[in-house]
Amino acid sequence: MIPEEFIDQLLDRVDLVELVGAEVSLQKKGKDYLGLCPFHSEKTPSFNVIPNKQFYHCFGCGQSGNALTFLLSFKKMGFVEAVEFLAEKTGMQVPKTVSARPAVDASLYDLLAQAKSWFVHKLEHSETAREYLASRGISAETASAFDIGFAPAGWDNLLSRFSVDYPVQRLKDAGLIVETDSRKKYDYFRHRLMFPVRDSKGRVIAFAGRSLTNEQQPKYINSPGSRVFQKKQHLYGLYQALSNKSLDRLFFVEGYMDVITLVQAGISGVVACMGTAVGDFQLKLAYRYVKELVFCFDGDNAGMQAAWKTLKQALPSLGGEKRIRFIFLPEGSDPDSFVSDRGAEAFYELFEQSVRLPDFFFDYLSRELDLASIDGRNSLATAAVPLIRTIRDDILRRLFEKKLQDLIDLPVADLASRPPPRLASKAGASTQYSLLKHALQQLVIAPEAASRIADKPTGWLSVFDDYDAVLLDKVIRVLKESPTDKTPVLLAQFAGSPEYRQLVELSVTD
Ligand code: UTP
Ligand code: MN
Repeated sequence: MIPEEFIDQLLDRVDLVELVGAEVSLQKKGKDYLGLCPFHSEKTPSFNVIPNKQFYHCFGCGQSGNALTFLLSFKKMGFVEAVEFLAEKTGMQVPKTVSARPAVDASLYDLLAQAKSWFVHKLEHSETAREYLASRGISAETASAFDIGFAPAGWDNLLSRFSVDYPVQRLKDAGLIVETDSRKKYDYFRHRLMFPVRDSKGRVIAFAGRSLTNEQQPKYINSPGSRVFQKKQHLYGLYQALSNKSLDRLFFVEGYMDVITLVQAGISGVVACMGTAVGDFQLKLAYRYVKELVFCFDGDNAGMQAAWKTLKQALPSLGGEKRIRFIFLPEGSDPDSFVSDRGAEAFYELFEQSVRLPDFFFDYLSRELDLASIDGRNSLATAAVPLIRTIRDDILRRLFEKKLQDLIDLPVADLASRPPPRLASKAGASTQYSLLKHALQQLVIAPEAASRIADKPTGWLSVFDDYDAVLLDKVIRVLKESPTDKTPVLLAQFAGSPEYRQLVELSVTD
C-alpha cells in the first residue's frame, strides 16, 4: 500500500502546469491556464489547468483530475509507474512499501537474471550453438543485444548448478525446473537455444527455447506462466524497441527469430506476441508507447484470416490517434526470411504499401460480393453492422458507418450508431449491469460520496450476483475503513490487486 500522505505530498509538490504543459500547449489566463483539451478533439480551448488547486478540468468533455490521473489517463502509465515518475520529478523518495509486489518476486527476477547469464555463458562454450546462430545469420552483437543463450543437453545441468544457491521450489516457481508426480526433478529447457523474455522495464521474466535440430520437437517451448510472467501480457522485443526514444510505430511479427533478424537489419521497433493472436492487454501495452501498430502476416489465406482476427480484436479500442496497418508478405516467406533475402529497404517498401485497417475491413468483407446487387449490399451490411457497433470511439464508428452507407448507398446511421449492447445475457441484466457500473464509477470519481452511504452489513450487494456488485461492495468497505476524497488514494489501496486495472479504467473513462 502507498501511504496516503505520500501521495498528498507528491501532488502538492509537483508543478501541474509544467507537467501538463509538456503535452498540451497552455496559455496563461488570469491565475489559470487554458489550452486545447488532450482528451477530446476541439477547436476552441476549454481545458483549464488550475495551479492553486493542482487540478485540471475540461468544460467540453468533463475530464478532470490531478497530476496522477493525468499520467494514468493521458500518458497511460500504471499507478506505481506514475507515482515513481512524479517522485523523481519532485525529488522525493518513494517509500519502500510502494513496490506492490511481494519481496519473493524480487528474488524470482534475480534468479531469472542469473539463469539468463548462465545460459549466455553456456552459449560461449558451445560450438554447435554458435554455429547454429551463425547459420541463421545472427551476429555476435545481435546475440548479445538479445542475450541469446544456450541450455546444454542433459537433464540436470541447471538443476545441479542452481540448487546450490536456490531452493528447488524457487527454481520451480521460476519455471526452470519440472517436477514429476514421482518427484523426479529435471531441467525444463534442454539442448535449446535460449531467448530471454524481458518485461518493458528490462527484467528477465521468462524464456523461449528453440530446438537446434528438426528431430527435436516441438520447435519452440516457452516458460510456463509464473508470478512474474503472465502469458499474453508481454511483448517479446519491446524492451529493446524502447531504447529508440523516437519510436513512431511497432511492427508485430510472429516469431522470435523474426524480431531478431529485423532488428539486426536496422528496423527498429519490432515485437512478437509469443503465441498465437495478439491479446487486448498486449494492444494496450503497445499503445502506451506508439500510436501506430503494423502487423505482418503471410500473404496466403491463413495470413488473411489471422489479420481479420486481429482486426476484430482491435476494433473496439481503436479511434483517436490509435491506428493499425497490415503488411502482407509474399507467400511462403516470414519476415525473417524476407528481410534476409531482400533487405530492410524491401521491407520498408512493403510497409509503404501496407493496408490501413479501415480499408482492410471493407475490402475483406466485400471480397466475394457483388456490390452492384441488392444481395451483395445486403450481405455486406449484415456482416459489417454488428462489427461497426463494437467500435467504442464515436468518431471512428461514424466514419465506418459513413463508409458503409456509401458502399451500399443507403443510410444506416440508425442501425449502427446504436450504442453497442454491453451484455447480451438475460433480460434486464444489461440495465442492472450499467447501474452497478455507474455507481462504481461515481464512487471511484468522487470517493467522498461513500460517507453518504448508509452502513449496511458487508455483502448486502451480493443479491445482485454480479462481479460489479462484488467490487462495489469492496470499494464501499475500503472507503468506510479509510475515507478519502481523492481518487488516486482510493486506487492506491487496490494497487497490485486484480481489480486495480478496472478501477483505473472507470476513473478515466467518461
Ligand atoms: P514458426 O514455426 O513460424 O517459427 O513459429 P519461426 O519463428 O519462423 O522460427 P524459425 O525461423 O524456424 O526459428 C512462429 C512462432 O510461433 C511460436 C513461436 O513463438 C515462434 O516464434 N511457436 C512455433 C511455438 O511457440 N512453438 C512451436 O513449436 C512453433
Ligand atoms: Mn522463421
